[in-house]
Amino acid sequence: MRQEIDLSLPPVTPQEMRDLLRAVRITRENGTFYWEREKKYHEILAFLTHLLVLERDMKRDRALLLLDGGCGKSYLSFVLNHVLTGKVKRPVHFIGVDADPAIIQTCEGIARDLGFRNMEFRVGRALDQRFESPPDIVYALHACDTATDEIIALGIRHRAMAVVVAPCCQREVKRTLDARHPLSGIGHFHVFKERLAVMLTDAIRALTLEAAGYGVKVVEFVPAKHTPKNILLRARRRTYRPTPAALDAYRSLQATFGFRSSLETYLPELFDGKGLPDIDRDEQDIQDEKNQGLSCPS
Ligand SMILES: C[S@@+](CC[C@H](N)C(=O)[O-])C[C@H]1O[C@@H](n2cnc3c(N)ncnc32)[C@H](O)[C@@H]1O
Repeated sequence: MRQEIDLSLPPVTPQEMRDLLRAVRITRENGTFYWEREKKYHEILAFLTHLLVLERDMKRDRALLLLDGGCGKSYLSFVLNHVLTGKVKRPVHFIGVDADPAIIQTCEGIARDLGFRNMEFRVGRALDQRFESPPDIVYALHACDTATDEIIALGIRHRAMAVVVAPCCQREVKRTLDARHPLSGIGHFHVFKERLAVMLTDAIRALTLEAAGYGVKVVEFVPAKHTPKNILLRARRRTYRPTPAALDAYRSLQATFGFRSSLETYLPELFDGKGLPDIDRDEQDIQDEKNQGLSCPS
């Protein structure tokens, strides 16, 4: 059955969007959606608006480096690249990382077909990535379980100016919840246990980002009818110093629920209270941001 597509994303024309969706294989040649990809279409457009809000606020004196972690077939990054390079006229370089070599091969093929030479794709684990210069925006749309935590840790380690994640499954915290926590009566029911784990996992992530100096917005980025995994954390750097109050809030949740989180393994310095890992964002960059009022004085 043919489904109507909402092609209202400005400033991309409906015809461009149709061509793009076909090229990235969200729709078939005849314009109908492949199975399950209509929801992906809604997800990417909604996610994209959050990235564009952040991009608008960033310096224009050099190309931005954008990192898509757990990129899968990179639908989001292909559409974003079209909008940023083709419409906003913003020089950008993309790195897409995925653990699956076959998926990366597909991405490389699509990038070639689209003539996107500013996109690089890597096979590997998100957390292991190294960069010549640090990424400006690190994002992940539904990266599995702790892969989302890897992306958050990567962003924090490299002092990214923004980190945006829409988490996927939240297995880790659910597995490690202490059975005797004070809300265990809620966890007694499967659906409630799931929801509690989701809330807790994403609160832990948001608090970790705040602890590392980001201002975090938590929103439902797309209506639940498209996906129940519709929480998005949008984090913008405010300071280069850790924020102890957020770490205290994290510890208080942990004392109550007894969970373990990979974020502690990935960011030991932050959780030990020693500060942020010592990495490579250029001092000049930091100063420029401060001068532009993009980071709050701490
Ligand atoms: C649910 S898919 C989402 C793909 C894409 N972001 C999207 O929205 O269409 C999650 C992807 O994360 C990749 N992945 C899982 N763990 C990873 C890790 N530690 N590092 C990099 N990629 C990972 C998987 O191979 C998979 O392609």
